[in-house]
Amino acid sequence: MKKAGITMLLVGLTILAACTNNKEEDLPNACITTDMKYDADMKNILVNQGCVGCHNSQSANGNIVLDNYEDVKANINKILPAIKHDASLSSNKFMPPGGQLSQCEIDKIQAWSNDGTPQ
Ligand code: HEC
Repeated sequence: MKKAGITMLLVGLTILAACTNNKEEDLPNACITTDMKYDADMKNILVNQGCVGCHNSQSANGNIVLDNYEDVKANINKILPAIKHDASLSSNKFMPPGGQLSQCEIDKIQAWSNDGTPQ
């Protein structure tokens, strides 16, 4: 019994050590927010989350176009409160309608804005 207890303790410590040794970037579910670019990162989020489907030159809901770099950059100060469901907005402006981006996607867009919206 005593041996089994010690074995379990060692196994536990090994797992703990393995976890703490991993850098955040190595973990499969880590959210990477460094070096965000419009072409490489923002475009995919906006297309995959349906934003571009409702906000393009043919169909610009709320007069917002999000299918190109210049327009996304110009609208970043409206995009951030809309995706964060900021309390200053009425809920019909929470984007996307009826849902919310993942925290990681929100963090990526915020980081891109903080970095000066690089293309
Ligand atoms: C199903 C269509 C649809 C989708 C999908 C959609 N939007 Fe919208 N969006 C709208 C409509 C409609 C409005 C106008 C809301 C209003 O003013 O009442 C709007 C308004 C906005 C506004 C202006 C908010 C303001 O302050 O006036 C922004 C910014 C915006 N959307 C960004 C986004 C982003 C980013 C996404 C994706 C995460 C997204 N939208 C997805 C339909 C959509």
